[in-house]
Amino acid sequence: MKTVRIGLFGCGVVGSELCRLVRDTRDLFERRDGIRFEIAAVGVAHPGKPRPEWVPADRIVAGWNAVAAMPGIDVVVELIGGTGDAKDAVFDSLGRCRHTVTANKALLAQSGVELTRLAASKGCGLCFEAAVGGGVPVIASVAETLNANRFHRVAGIVNGTTNFILTRMKEEGMGYDQALLLAQERGFAEPDASFDVEGTDAAQKLSILAALAFGAGIPAHEIYTEGITRVTAQDMALVAGFDYVIKLLAIGRRTPHGVELRVHPALVNSRHPLAAVRDEFNAFFLTGDVTGEVMLYGKGAGPSPAAGAVLSDVARLARREGTSWFDRQWTYDDIEHVPIGDVETGYYMIFPVVDKPGVIGRIASTLGSYGINIESAHAHLPEPRNGHGLVQIISHRARERDVRGALKAVRDLPVLTGEAWFYRIEE
Ligand SMILES: NC(=O)c1ccc[n+]([C@@H]2O[C@H](COP(=O)([O-])OP(=O)(O)OC[C@H]3O[C@@H](n4cnc5c(N)ncnc54)[C@H](OP(=O)(O)O)[C@@H]3O)[C@@H](O)[C@H]2O)c1
Repeated sequence: MKTVRIGLFGCGVVGSELCRLVRDTRDLFERRDGIRFEIAAVGVAHPGKPRPEWVPADRIVAGWNAVAAMPGIDVVVELIGGTGDAKDAVFDSLGRCRHTVTANKALLAQSGVELTRLAASKGCGLCFEAAVGGGVPVIASVAETLNANRFHRVAGIVNGTTNFILTRMKEEGMGYDQALLLAQERGFAEPDASFDVEGTDAAQKLSILAALAFGAGIPAHEIYTEGITRVTAQDMALVAGFDYVIKLLAIGRRTPHGVELRVHPALVNSRHPLAAVRDEFNAFFLTGDVTGEVMLYGKGAGPSPAAGAVLSDVARLARREGTSWFDRQWTYDDIEHVPIGDVETGYYMIFPVVDKPGVIGRIASTLGSYGINIESAHAHLPEPRNGHGLVQIISHRARERDVRGALKAVRDLPVLTGEAWFYRIEE
């Protein structure tokens, strides 16, 4: 039997769940893997704080540094979160050649390049399954199980909060504010939900996935990111008429010109498997040249799935004696990052217009002058007619720069009654 002594940095929501799992999975790991986990030390900010009974009270010390200084720790688990103390703690741990597990997507999305280089230079493992997708094993899938593939695309619904909100808006016709409130009441959204609804969380996860799938060391803040705050229930209803649903997608795509990374609400055909991903669930849609399409689906967050992913990383490191995924996968190829203006997709555009003959024609010819081919155009006129309407246009693939230019030009036509807007269509 191999005893694996865990040094825990942070014991909040996920950390205390990890302590419970260590207790409750004892038989499983001992019988099957010959591994016995021991929580050797727990460094926290407030040692006097009450904690669940399964957190070993006699192992609690003040601060991560006290744990870092202890001898005999086999694997460090960082569950402080953020890019402050946690960053110092993980650099310190790797600097001491200690195998390290973290669930910290913010840290990896910011400093993944340096961390992986440090882990490689020290010859120790850095694992982070819980940082993306919680209990959905997307990191292991991309980095290990599917690693005979050259990935063309990694795309997915990677944020449960926004998916819950969009699902309520679609299925119950709720407004954005009402759906957000419900998400907060049910515990799927923080009181300040901006990190999720503005797409930042999704961009951090995409940055990590892109590193593994494409060898692209692009930090989250360089990823084009649009959240869901401007999506309306009316938009949901309108696009349903064309057999689409609106989902917040994180999309990474390898193109001949480089890698495209973007997070934004997108139209997904209602028959596509991603359209069926409802509520707080996540799904990752991976396209590789060998395996083809693979979809992973499950709960993307929550203390229990996250702690389960952390514990399995600890076991993996204990079994393999290390080797970081990042240093093997993240080769830092000199990959161009395609700017959003050069991205090509189909577009669904909405123009609030005066209800007059010839309006669709004028808009269509302006779009045509920017090289945008129209697949279909529809007028949506309320009954009884009130002089206003909506023109909806679906384009063939077009360059985003041209679409934005065309919308600007349409603004100068005397046909609009408000601002035009668009959604990208993800095939
Ligand atoms: N919550 C989830 O469902 C979930 C899911 C996937 C990934 N994650 C990731 O898991 C990580 C932890 O999240 P969480 O929700 O468990 O956070 P949390 O509940 O806020 O816990 C943070 C812990 O860090 C401790 N801490 C703060 N400063 C410290 C320091 N200098 N030294 C030692 N300990 C320190 C705190 O101590 P005190 O307890 O004494 O205040 C607390 O125990 C984050 O990176 C998060 O993104 C969370």
